[in-house]
Amino acid sequence: MKLVSAKEMLDAAVRGHYAVGHFNLNNMESVRAFLLAAEEMRSPIILGVSGGTAKYMGGYRTISHMVQDFMDFLKITVPVALHVDHGKYNEALDAIENGFSSVMFDGSSYPIEENIAKTKEIVKLAHAKGISVEAEVGGIGGEEDGRISRGECADPNECRMIADLGIDFLAAGIGNIHGKYPADWEGLHFDLLGEIKEKIGDLPLVLHGGSCIPADQIRKAISLGVSKINVNTECQIAFTEATRKYFEDGKDKESKGFTPRAVLAPGLEATKAMCIKKMELFGSVGKA
Ligand code: 13P
Repeated sequence: MKLVSAKEMLDAAVRGHYAVGHFNLNNMESVRAFLLAAEEMRSPIILGVSGGTAKYMGGYRTISHMVQDFMDFLKITVPVALHVDHGKYNEALDAIENGFSSVMFDGSSYPIEENIAKTKEIVKLAHAKGISVEAEVGGIGGEEDGRISRGECADPNECRMIADLGIDFLAAGIGNIHGKYPADWEGLHFDLLGEIKEKIGDLPLVLHGGSCIPADQIRKAISLGVSKINVNTECQIAFTEATRKYFEDGKDKESKGFTPRAVLAPGLEATKAMCIKKMELFGSVGKA
């Protein structure tokens, strides 16, 4: 199976009232873990690559080749989209030229006019190659790749303006933040979600910061039209906790337990298990 655009899988999710998980790549183990989880669960999947991951893993070209070759090697038969996460303009261009099947251009830090102008450019270039486009209105709070934002709620009218540019799915801030949520977090703003949905119709909505949101809020967000949910932090924590346990249990001191593949195996399994748990919650199991 070749990498696919995320458009068809998300349009199907809108029609079927479920969400497709976007899982962030961090290293080779995460590529393997997510592909195996998707195949085992017969679920479509979106693999997200932040600017930091792109630098760490050798750039967009290396990553697209690695993921495609891995898919061929593992005989993956479910739809997989390889997607730029929170791309700056130049990152989105780089990925479009280098084998990605989907890109997010995050122009949320620009004034709306500039966000519109740049998003329009990306849509033109990406669609010419059959690549899907995610745009963003209203910054998502939290920290990602060293960029900290408090997060702001999206203006539904601005959502409409960006939706009209022909994008394939839209990320809108509704009180969600990246990373762990503070104890006094107010929760997702469902009224705002409803207003945005009214303005953008059947365009798939994206929920960033999908880690650590209580399951009932996730289900409600899906019922109100969210059809792509981004998860990174919880998979990272699962990986690190499993790795810590490996050392605490002294496994690295046993036999060949010191080899890097042995050290990383529990983290890989824990990442895969977390991915499967999220697919079950999002309702994407069996939808491939
Ligand atoms: P979390 O790290 O909070 O899961 O958010 C991931 C995300 O939104 C990536 O864009």
